[in-house]
Amino acid sequence: MLHDPNRVYVFDTTLRDGEQVPGCQLTTPEKIEIAHELESLGVDIIEAGFPISSPGDFQSVVEISKAVKNPTVCALTRANKGDIDAAVEALAYAKHPRIHTGIGSSDMHIKHKFNSTREEILERAVEAVKYAKKSVEDIEFYAEDAGRADVRFLAQMVEAVIAAGATVVNIPDTNGYCLPDQYGEKIKFLKENVKNIDKAIISVHCHNDLGLATANSIAGLQNGARQIEGTINGIGERAGNTSIEEVVMILKTHSVLGLHTNINTKNFYELSHMVSTQMRMPVQPNKAIVGSNAFAHSSGIHQDGFLKNRENYEIIRPEDVGFPSATIVLTARSGRHALKFHLERLGYNLDKQELANAYQSFLVLADGKLDIDDNDLTTLMIAVKQLA
Ligand code: KIV
Ligand code: ZN
Repeated sequence: MLHDPNRVYVFDTTLRDGEQVPGCQLTTPEKIEIAHELESLGVDIIEAGFPISSPGDFQSVVEISKAVKNPTVCALTRANKGDIDAAVEALAYAKHPRIHTGIGSSDMHIKHKFNSTREEILERAVEAVKYAKKSVEDIEFYAEDAGRADVRFLAQMVEAVIAAGATVVNIPDTNGYCLPDQYGEKIKFLKENVKNIDKAIISVHCHNDLGLATANSIAGLQNGARQIEGTINGIGERAGNTSIEEVVMILKTHSVLGLHTNINTKNFYELSHMVSTQMRMPVQPNKAIVGSNAFAHSSGIHQDGFLKNRENYEIIRPEDVGFPSATIVLTARSGRHALKFHLERLGYNLDKQELANAYQSFLVLADGKLDIDDNDLTTLMIAVKQLA
């Protein structure tokens, strides 16, 4: 089968990088429930866990491998035989298993985490890939802290691990350090300077320490990466990982980029809610795509424009991400047009003067109450009618 050059593979790490967040640990049955939903969402790869890290994580990888059919199931390891053996065993039931092995690539990590040298690290990287390849065909290699790594050494490492059998090379901005153009340039350099790069897919894995994870992931894709790693709701270590829902909706909204995924975007809202509930991690109301205010219009100017033509203030249709509907929130900043809209919805068709009277009463009410709901409007209309 010919590989579609514009297809972006979606690698979900909610159950591995996402689950590393303190207080967000899940039981195996909860992870299986999320894995089923990720399969319905259409993700290509589910990173199910880090089997050597604990018996519970090992068991979760086993059970998720049994539970899903279509996505590749991936297990994380460090670059050593013990980790890889545990991952191979945990993935025994996976229809499409993948091992995700790797080691630090920045001088910072090489010296201060591994107390090693570039030469030794390169050797360990190659050995790990070769060892994993004996048991599993699909091997992803991560060059940890690639965001801060010397790009020439990174290129050397990428070339060596592809020659050793890596099918995917992950270039993580582990510390969320890069600017989008720096990260994009790094991917471009690898595309242009690694001899065997056409034998592997480049993956982007960005952290959000400077709020740039989504922008960096897009920059990577624009420069030739074809796999994006992230989590639902952007949960993950420290400030989190790239939000899958953001990247996917950017690609859909900006079709000019010419890139597409296999994601059923209508499943986003429900899955976001499930992950948030199970992980006890509320979604901030203004979170892009899945926040409760993402499709709420509250100022008078916006509400008026939205009611004239929703595209004045809506670049994504809420129904495209499974959001119930756009909302016109009534506050003291709302205008007459928004009030008329809600009153008509409740069956009150007012003439100009009646609406003007109702609006004056509404402003008094809204100044003293943050949320105006349907009951408030009904009470208000009874009072207005009595005065008339
Ligand atoms: O952020 C990172 O570098 C990682 C690797 C283990 C892939 O999560
Ligand atoms: Zn990470």
